[in-house]
Amino acid sequence: MLGLKNFIRLYLQSQKLQCCYTVSMFSTKQPKNKVTVSSQKEVFKIGPTFQDFLENSLRSAKNANKYSAESMPDLDHAYLKKEDYQGKGQKVYMDVYGCQMNVNDVEIVWSVLISNGYQKTNKADEADVILLMTCAIREGAEQKIWNRLDHLRHLKKRKAAKNDRRVSIGVLGCMAERLKEKLIEKERSIDIVAGPDSYRDLPRLLTDVTDDPHQSAVNVLLSLEETYADIIPVRVNPESPSAFISIMRGCDNMCSYCIVPFTRGRERSRPADSIINEVRYLADEGIKEITLLGQNVNSYRDLSDSVYYGGISDKIGDTSTVPGFKTVYKAKKGGRRFADLLEKISSIVPNIRIRFTSPHPKDFPDEVLQLIAERSNICKNLHLPAQSGNNAVLERMNRGYTRESYLQLVQRVNEIIPGVTLSSDFICGFCGETEDEFQDTLTLVERVQYQTAYIFPYSMREKTKAHRRLEDNISHDVKTARVDQLVSSFRDGAEKLNQSRVGSVQLVLIEGVSKRSADEMAGRSESNVKVIVPQEEIPVAINNDKTAPIKQGSYVAIKIISANSQVMRGLPLYHTSIQEFFGEEKRKLIQH
Ligand code: 5AD
Ligand code: SF4
Repeated sequence: MLGLKNFIRLYLQSQKLQCCYTVSMFSTKQPKNKVTVSSQKEVFKIGPTFQDFLENSLRSAKNANKYSAESMPDLDHAYLKKEDYQGKGQKVYMDVYGCQMNVNDVEIVWSVLISNGYQKTNKADEADVILLMTCAIREGAEQKIWNRLDHLRHLKKRKAAKNDRRVSIGVLGCMAERLKEKLIEKERSIDIVAGPDSYRDLPRLLTDVTDDPHQSAVNVLLSLEETYADIIPVRVNPESPSAFISIMRGCDNMCSYCIVPFTRGRERSRPADSIINEVRYLADEGIKEITLLGQNVNSYRDLSDSVYYGGISDKIGDTSTVPGFKTVYKAKKGGRRFADLLEKISSIVPNIRIRFTSPHPKDFPDEVLQLIAERSNICKNLHLPAQSGNNAVLERMNRGYTRESYLQLVQRVNEIIPGVTLSSDFICGFCGETEDEFQDTLTLVERVQYQTAYIFPYSMREKTKAHRRLEDNISHDVKTARVDQLVSSFRDGAEKLNQSRVGSVQLVLIEGVSKRSADEMAGRSESNVKVIVPQEEIPVAINNDKTAPIKQGSYVAIKIISANSQVMRGLPLYHTSIQEFFGEEKRKLIQH
């Protein structure tokens, strides 16, 4: 195992590498490519030339998973030194909106900033820099961010009026990428705009706006290679037993409603070696659950010269997508695939629970399903985002499958992984959705019985195919009425599912004290349902007289005594581990 000390050493080396990369990439402080000039503030699109971009992307990808000092390239010829971009103790406050990928991106940004001399603060009022990690998926998500920016403009003005410290405001992530310099034109209090692939460049962007308060800095270049493979995220919830690892970024699917391919760029996978190093590090830190992250997590395909070979792909060759599912892109070939990575990770950390999100249904070939069935530490809880249950709507959405092929996949998943639970995303009121078409989504939800469903009213996004070709002609009221109907139908199914577990014994990872009562602990079952138990001393293992209290991070065997659609309650039986629990459950099955 890679010890903490070693890891820190390698981490520092990787930071040195990363810094060299930034310095050589941006070897002059003179902003290029001026796009807008305004009377008070000049707005620049600061960026390298196309050639810089290509060379450095390739170099960064090549070095991404190499941590040894010997492999460090000598980049000391660059004009600027690391010191030029040092935060010198400036305090940074960060807010996050949107999905889990954004939370992980915040962790990457903290890593970049802290290693460049910035420090964290939890108080916006005392910050020198305020950053917002933003989401652009629906108009509602962006509206929340505009409201926050409104508030921050007042804070900035108040501080200026009091001659208090100057605050720089930065917008990062998907909304930054979607609106680019238009953001600054609309909201002049913004100093920095940085897209999802430019976080390494933040120290430079921040230095530029700190040195010259009349300047704004924008870097919204999307990369074909950037996976931040060499950056060890600084966890935002260090006390949590769960951690997240980003394994791929971007999306090549082009669903007609979705802005993500435009804000997050092309699909690219992080080299397996660097992921495995991070898994080992988290295991050493005592983490109990790891969620692998990516916009299309199961499309993972590591094409780097990874030292890790001999996986499932070598044995069975390159399988295509699930039968009945089409892609808009040409079949990709070669490399380590999701099954290989999952196989490797699950075997090196057998007592850590593994989840992954967000997958695409097309990328669940049999070998992935079989692996999930066989490994007790991979949660038997799959996200199969359907979006709609009607073929005409699926076609307009460009999803590449039909209701029938989706249901065939659901059947296959149930056959290969007995007891699996499913979750899904749905959009209500997509362009032209008729009442009959919506009824097909309702019947799909009733038929599949999802454990969890994320249900959204359609929100038209510029740049998408739907924006160019279709009409957003379903009223707001109809969209919300359909959302309500679908939610209530989903809840009926989820309640039945949860109640069917009353009397069973579930393995629960305790996340902490329950929010509702200090005498209770809350955790999650394998199917990701919240489970509440009284805080008690329980046996340290099955058939053991010694007892210990239930703590955050404990794996506990819990007998379920009641359930509704969202929460189950139970009696804690004994402390356990993943391997012990499933060994015990298997033994019981054999005896009966
Ligand atoms: N409007 C509403 N929901 C959307 N989603 C993606 N784009 C839109 C949109 N324009 C939903 C999809 C996706 C989830 C992350 O967000 O259901 O799976
Ligand atoms: Fe929002 Fe999608 Fe960007 Fe996540 S990837 S922040 S959900 S737009």
